[in-house]
Amino acid sequence: MAEANIFPALIAHCKEYGYIFPSSEIYDGLSAVYDYGQNGAQLKKNIRDYWWKSMTQLNENIVGIDTAIFMHPTTWKASGHVDSFSDPMIDNKDSNKRYRVDHLIENFSDELRAMSREKEADELIASMESLLAIDDFDGLKKLIENNKIKCSVSGTCNWTDIRQFNLMFSTEMGSVSEEANIIYLRPETAQGIFVNFLNVQKTSRMKIPFGIAQTGKAFRNEIVARQFIFRMREFEQMEMQFFVRPGTQMEWYNFWKAERLKWHQSIGIPANKLRFHDHTKLAHYADAAVDIEFEFPFGWKELEGIHSRTDYDLSRHQEFSKKKLQYFDNEINKNYIPYVVETSVGLDRLVLTILSLAYEEQRWNKEDGSEDSRVVLKIPAKLAPYKLAILPLVKKDGLPEIAKQLMDECKQGFHTFYEEKDSIGKRYRRMDAIGTPFCVTIDHQTKEDNTVTIRYRDTMTQERIALSDVRKIVSEKIN
Ligand code: GAP
Repeated sequence: MAEANIFPALIAHCKEYGYIFPSSEIYDGLSAVYDYGQNGAQLKKNIRDYWWKSMTQLNENIVGIDTAIFMHPTTWKASGHVDSFSDPMIDNKDSNKRYRVDHLIENFSDELRAMSREKEADELIASMESLLAIDDFDGLKKLIENNKIKCSVSGTCNWTDIRQFNLMFSTEMGSVSEEANIIYLRPETAQGIFVNFLNVQKTSRMKIPFGIAQTGKAFRNEIVARQFIFRMREFEQMEMQFFVRPGTQMEWYNFWKAERLKWHQSIGIPANKLRFHDHTKLAHYADAAVDIEFEFPFGWKELEGIHSRTDYDLSRHQEFSKKKLQYFDNEINKNYIPYVVETSVGLDRLVLTILSLAYEEQRWNKEDGSEDSRVVLKIPAKLAPYKLAILPLVKKDGLPEIAKQLMDECKQGFHTFYEEKDSIGKRYRRMDAIGTPFCVTIDHQTKEDNTVTIRYRDTMTQERIALSDVRKIVSEKIN
C-alpha cells in the first residue's frame, strides 16, 4: 500500500480493533480528544510501565512520583506559563479560520516538497525559524504574504496580524467565580516535580545528581489539533527532571540525549526512523534543547524533548513562594539551586509511533494460485496488549477444558486471550489484526501426546511444542 494511504487506514483500523475511538463519538466526537479502547489502553499501559521501569527501577538515582493535575495558580505564574506559554496565531479574514503560524508555513513547505521544490521548502523553513527565534511577527506575516500562502477553507490570502494565544485551559475552584479562584489544568507534568523537589530530596535522602520521574495527563488548548493522537488537547506525558550541579548541565544533557535515543531503539524503533533536531528558538526556561524526531506517516515530527532547563524553574518557585529551594552539596561544601536536565516524551505519540511501525497490509499467492491477505500489527511482543491467544480447534471433545487449564496457568504471567468461535484461520487473522504475537492451538493430538501448535504472528510459521512448555516459551519471548 502506498505510504500516503497508510495513515487513514491505520486510524480506521485502530477504531475497528478496539485501540482508539474518537471521544464521545455518539455525540459526533470532540475535536482532538480521543479514548483508548481495550487494546489501546493495554498497549499504552505497557509502554508507560516500560518507561517507568527503565527510569525508576534501572536507575538507582531516579525515583517516581505522582502529583495532582490541579496546582496552586501561582505555580503557573512562577513557571512563566501565564505570560509565555503561547503560540503565534493568524486568522484568515474571509473564513475566520485560525492557524498556528508555524503549522501554516510548514504545511505550505510540505506542498512545495510534494512538487519537488525542495530547495524553496528548505529556505522557507529556515526563514520561518529565524523569524520565530526573534518573535518577528511582522516579518512572519510578510513571509506568509510573499509566498501567497492561502487559507485551506477560503482559498484567500487575506490575513490578520499575528497574535499570541495562550494554550492553558482554566477552570474555577470552589463555588465563587472570582479571579482568585481560577486554576489551570497543568500543561506539563514537570511543575509537579519542581514544587516537590525538596520534599522528595529530603525524604529519599538522595544526593545530586538524581532524578524525579512522573507520568500523567497534561492539557493544552491546541488551536490546530490534527493528525489523530499526534496533537491532542488532553494527552499524557512521561517526564523526568534530573537535578545536577550547576556547570555540569551540558554533560548530563548529552548523556540523556544518548540514553533516550537508545531507549527508543530498545522498544523496536529502527535507528533510521529517529533523528535529533536542535531547537533554534529556545523555550523561556532552556539554555539548550533538542527534539528526538520520528518519521511518522505524515513526516518527521517531535516525539520527545530533551531540555537543559537551567535553574530557572526552581529559582522562580523560590522567588514566588519565598521558600528556599536549595540543596547543600557536602562534596563541595556549598548551597545552591540545582540545574535541571529534563526528558519529556508524549505517551500518546509513542503509541502512535508503535502503531504506525506495526501496521502492515500483506498480500500473497497461495500454493493453489489464489490470493490471500491479512492486516497485521507487528507490535513488539513485550508491548503487545495480549501476548498469547489460546484456541481450541473445536468446542468439544475436552479441548476447551485443556485450553482453559492452560489459560489459568498462563494468565498469572501475562495477558492471554481465549477464543473458540470460527475457523482457526479466521481466529488467526483476528489475532494478527490486534497484534497478538503468539497463538496456541489445542487439537486432538494434544490429548494423545500433550503437544500443541504454536503459531508466530510475524512469520506465520507454526511448530509443535510441549503443552507444559507454553508458559516458559512465551515468557522468554516477551521479556
Ligand atoms: N515539560 C516540557 C514539555 O512539556 P514539550 O516539548 O512542550 O515539553 C513534551 O512537550 C512532549 O509532550 C512532546 O515531545 C510531545 O511528545 C508531547 N506533547 C506535547 N504537546 C502534545 C499534544 N498536544 N498532544 C500530544 N502530545 C504532546
